[in-house]
Amino acid sequence: MGFAVRVRAPSNIALIKYMGKSDPELNIPSNPSLSLTLNSLCTWTELEQIQDGGEFRLEWNGAARMEDVELLPFDLREKDRPKIERHFKRVFQFFGHSFSGHWRVRSGNTFPAGAGIASSASGFSALTLAIAAALGRDRSAQAELPQLSRQGSGSSCRSFQGPWVLWQGENATKLSTNFDSLSDIVFLIEKSEKTVGSTEAHLRVKSSPLWEKRNERVSFRIQELQGCLLMGNWSGFSQLVWEEAMDMHELFHTSSPSFSYWTPLTREILGWLESEGVRSGKVRAAVTLDAGPNVHLLIPQCDQRYWLDKIKARYPELELLVDQEGPGAQVVWHAEGLK
Ligand code: PMV
Repeated sequence: MGFAVRVRAPSNIALIKYMGKSDPELNIPSNPSLSLTLNSLCTWTELEQIQDGGEFRLEWNGAARMEDVELLPFDLREKDRPKIERHFKRVFQFFGHSFSGHWRVRSGNTFPAGAGIASSASGFSALTLAIAAALGRDRSAQAELPQLSRQGSGSSCRSFQGPWVLWQGENATKLSTNFDSLSDIVFLIEKSEKTVGSTEAHLRVKSSPLWEKRNERVSFRIQELQGCLLMGNWSGFSQLVWEEAMDMHELFHTSSPSFSYWTPLTREILGWLESEGVRSGKVRAAVTLDAGPNVHLLIPQCDQRYWLDKIKARYPELELLVDQEGPGAQVVWHAEGLK
């Protein structure tokens, strides 16, 4: 008997960044991180068991067969196959299931690759949840899923819950806050694939002279930021989020060899947002960047229209992505008896 599951898992944007690993095998971070889970910027994944038992075999194709969900063309790449098969093995083993069977996976993203949205976070959390759901363990193992997923892609462990998640060591936990519900507007400056991938960035930052005190700075900011989230303190929030984004990019700019994701337009947009009072916390808005050139503007959902009009007036040609905070990965359906 075969069966199929469909899940959707959002990306997340870190405000205190995971950059540098203390254990690269298990993806244990050098410092804690704090993130906002997104909603519709997500990965959809379907996993179907074609045959039970026998040598493990994984078939895949892109989003072509998910007719009812609008996904961008996206192919699971052959170069990612070893990593994905290792992840199947890891999750199967954890649940005491033999590494066997003929499986078919289909997956697609709602956002373009290279959009400054972490596709490994949504992709791996979706895959982990899909495998667990296919084994009937998605509910009973809710606490373990982020840990398993983390071993495939670190930041994916923050996509199982939301909106606010704190990841420390092995554990990612939901944070209680008293903050506004947020929208994330992404300025799509560059869509091409990154020149320095995150695995390399995690290694290279350790050569920066700024690395030595990185943990101290993060410890301070993460405490303060949690205070701001509890108190609804926008001014402190915006200043800390700006500082932290610049801190991560300064690590890139000062590592050896140094590298930068920024383009002239990244700098121009940062300058404009600074002049609008975002850096100093004069307005209810905060700026961050992932490891890429694209700028994220976090604002209260009720101010979304105001900011979109303002941005479009200044950058009429620029593509924007707009999303809101969300609750994390979900199983959409689980069908038995399919073939
Ligand atoms: O999960 P990884 O290994 O792709 O690392 C991503 C790290 C950043 O996105 C740059 C920051 C973060 O905390 O998400």
